[in-house]
Amino acid sequence: MTQPTPCRALDGAPQVTLTLDGQEIQAPAQGSVAAAMLANGLHATRTTALSGAPRAPYCMMGVCFECLVEIDGRPNRQACLEMVRPGMQVRTQRGARPFPTAPRSEQEARDAG
Ligand code: FES
Repeated sequence: MTQPTPCRALDGAPQVTLTLDGQEIQAPAQGSVAAAMLANGLHATRTTALSGAPRAPYCMMGVCFECLVEIDGRPNRQACLEMVRPGMQVRTQRGARPFPTAPRSEQEARDAG
């Protein structure tokens, strides 16, 4: 991983600690997961299902779906639309991931948000 890219607009902003592919990183509390990944030098959020080509966030507004990651064990989350949370576990996606099945209980439905 390369060194974090400075972001002067968020200088002094409260930071949260989350885990990215098993490594703890710091990110501004008001930022998206995609912004946190980019700021910490990780530019590929996933690889494609067929060729394995790396893909990176492109639109940063929920349109292109290039930023899919696994968050807290849930695949296919749009990193540009998810805000960072303390303790969040983020993993880059390698190849195709199954879409989640329907929740089996009301508790699972509440947990799924
Ligand atoms: S970067 Fe385009 S949907 Fe997330």
